[in-house]
Amino acid sequence: MSASKPDVKVESTTNGEDWTDVGETGLFSPDLISPAVASILPDAYTIRPMRNSDYGRGFLDCLRVLTTVGDITEPQWNERYEWMSTQGKGGYYLLVIDDGTRIVGTGALIVERKFIHKLGLVGHIEDIAVAKDQQGKKLGLKIIQALDFIAEKVGCYKTILDCSEANEGFYVKCGFKRAGLEMAHYY
Ligand code: ACO
Repeated sequence: MSASKPDVKVESTTNGEDWTDVGETGLFSPDLISPAVASILPDAYTIRPMRNSDYGRGFLDCLRVLTTVGDITEPQWNERYEWMSTQGKGGYYLLVIDDGTRIVGTGALIVERKFIHKLGLVGHIEDIAVAKDQQGKKLGLKIIQALDFIAEKVGCYKTILDCSEANEGFYVKCGFKRAGLEMAHYY
């Protein structure tokens, strides 16, 4: 990269965690985005790590198709993003699909570090959401494939998730199978 071309965005990576971006940095290395998934998105669509500026691109509105989000102010968003990118680094892989104007899909992989299975890593898929008017275009499938790619690359030995019966068919199409029983204690 030439210093005389500051407008050219360059992403250089030496491994999955150590990278720089002369534009805005995302929550994790773009090297962890599946090239296969990125290459089959519709024109103008991109899949990338979530960025701090996604507050202004409708990230929270996208999540509202999933559940209650609440009124989150920009300072509150900034604080949570800052935590994820510092103390939570290496544990939170939130990605987005952007259609060129706004966020139309998102999903998260949370990586749990265990003692069992020789200090094994388990991926938890969470908060999958595709904007209502974009559902049925295989974006949800691509989000799951992209999260699976990250899980494998960072060394997870398995990935698990909880979902409603109504969504079981979607996850079966994504290659998951029913395993175990979820129990919950709400506080
Ligand atoms: N039940 C059965 N099959 C389904 C369902 C469903 N609820 N949803 C999609 N499928 C099928 C599709 O028909 C398609 O099948 P095909 O390959 O035979 O054509 C395949 O699954 C892939 O579907 P996509 O088009 O990729 O699905 P979409 O982009 O609409 O995303 C999603 C699915 C994420 C469930 C979306 O409808 C959504 O955002 N729903 C609201 C939020 C939600 O419920 N999120 C999941 C919560 S669980 C969690 O976060 C761990």
